[in-house]
Amino acid sequence: MAGNWKMYKNASETTAFFEKFNPLVAGASHCEVVIAPTFVNIAAAVAATKGTNIGIGAQDVYWKNEGAFTGEVSAPMIAAVGAQWVIIGHSERRQFFGETDETVLQKTVAALEAGLKPIICVGEMLADREAGKTADVLTRQFQGGIAGLTPEQFARIVIAYEPVWAIGTGKTATPEIAADAHKCIRAQARAKFGAAAADAVRILYGGSVKPDNVKNLMAQPDIDGALVGGASLKPDSFASIVNF
Ligand code: PGA
Repeated sequence: MAGNWKMYKNASETTAFFEKFNPLVAGASHCEVVIAPTFVNIAAAVAATKGTNIGIGAQDVYWKNEGAFTGEVSAPMIAAVGAQWVIIGHSERRQFFGETDETVLQKTVAALEAGLKPIICVGEMLADREAGKTADVLTRQFQGGIAGLTPEQFARIVIAYEPVWAIGTGKTATPEIAADAHKCIRAQARAKFGAAAADAVRILYGGSVKPDNVKNLMAQPDIDGALVGGASLKPDSFASIVNF
């Protein structure tokens, strides 16, 4: 269960969140719990979760380890500050910041080399869905961004299916729509990496996940977890999602 804080919270708000949140999920042994704050608050989040079952992640990463790349942050830098996870290819990066399937692959390889666990996002836009192109888009994103990994690399990633029309809109995919897309992604994984790898890979659903809809989503056999934006900003609401 992963929370994506996007561009919300400063360092003191980060610390205050974990003071409330940590005890609420201390008993959660059924899943891994991850929060991805902004880069500048990773250190505060790592300090505030020391000795707990909560892992911290970044929301993006650059694929070179160092160099003249003003404004970028590398995977070894993220690992050195104590984060273990990184979200890659979020639809907001794809829509607003020029992320492509090719850069998703480069970033994933760099993250894995630094020992980080990538959460790779895929998902269709509303126009794709209305045109009946959801499977085409998921296939293209899988082939361009994930199929380039080795089997060993693939075994270390998590995939997040996030239909763009459901993100921050309050419109959740129905459990059936989500399950269909997850099935499509798992079929891609099976074709490329084999049945055992496809069964083992965790596929999260993201897009307006809330305390009151998480249970029905998680009841779908192909949905292994959630990537949560808005509802991860409040300790109570994210804790009730974690403890669904
Ligand atoms: P949301 O965001 O839960 O606010 O819809 C999900 C995401 O973008 O990861």
